[in-house]
Amino acid sequence: MTIKLPDPRNETILIYVGGQLLPREQAKVSVFDSSVQGGDAVWEGLRVYNGKIFALDDHLNRMLDSAKALAFAQIPDRDAIKLAIFDTLNANNMRDGVHIRLTLTRGPKVTSGMSPHFNQSGPTLIVLAEWKAPVYDNSGGIRLITASIRRNPPMCIDSKIHHNNLINNIMAKIEANVAGVDDALMLDIFGYVSETNATNVFLVKRGQLLTPHADSCLPGITRAKVLDIGREAGLPVSERNISISEVYTADELFTTGTMGELSPVLEVDGRTIGDGEPGPITRRLQALYAQRTILEGEPLPF
Ligand SMILES: Cc1ncc(COP(=O)(O)O)c(C=O)c1O
Repeated sequence: MTIKLPDPRNETILIYVGGQLLPREQAKVSVFDSSVQGGDAVWEGLRVYNGKIFALDDHLNRMLDSAKALAFAQIPDRDAIKLAIFDTLNANNMRDGVHIRLTLTRGPKVTSGMSPHFNQSGPTLIVLAEWKAPVYDNSGGIRLITASIRRNPPMCIDSKIHHNNLINNIMAKIEANVAGVDDALMLDIFGYVSETNATNVFLVKRGQLLTPHADSCLPGITRAKVLDIGREAGLPVSERNISISEVYTADELFTTGTMGELSPVLEVDGRTIGDGEPGPITRRLQALYAQRTILEGEPLPF
């Protein structure tokens, strides 16, 4: 299990909270904030590569859609959010090797309680930018177990909303911690593979690239990029139901996410995946993704 310690430079960062840039000790939300009261917030994780924010508009699309689906009032517009991100990065002199946790809460309530009727002053935007390298061991690989807890199906909570109610995933992560592995694979309510507690999942079998339908998993932005890169590279690609035995017998397995990029999975539930080494297609897709992070992205205006 890899645990990377925080970069000491993060002790002096400035964090944007509701229109102000504050040192980390002062960067707080109210006890009346909807995120404290009910996990009532939406979020995105983004990365800055060499003076550019990767897939910025894709992340903002998902955040704005999530806020709309949750019926937030007075949602800030795309340009206002971009400006807050640029200001935060500029204030911290950050141009590379940075991860941004962008959160929009439903905002403070006039009294404790569940109802959005108590929200009378609009949402709170938080831009937390930290110096952070990809979190998994992408040159080696990671180990997973299958969690006993299942991913929420759309009839409970639609995974297309990227919300802060992360208890479902945290319960799975606790199972992974107890088992001493990196993360937990989560199945949907029908027993098909969905994603891990923090990332999407892909497998390679006889040269084919497969990933689950985005029914119970987050439709990840890295996932979409990898599907695109795979097709461009001429691989047969499909999104379909995948059962756990297909995972155990995959030639290659890897996870995807902004935070960790593409991470080879070498073991699931004690079964060695392929020959226990990162596979050639995973390596190729990692390299093609790395190229995209260099070429694409919204340039910082400072
Ligand atoms: C549960 C879950 N799955 C997958 C992902 C990866 O998504 P993306 O590639 O958009 O970072 C995330 C990232 O926030 C996540 O929380």
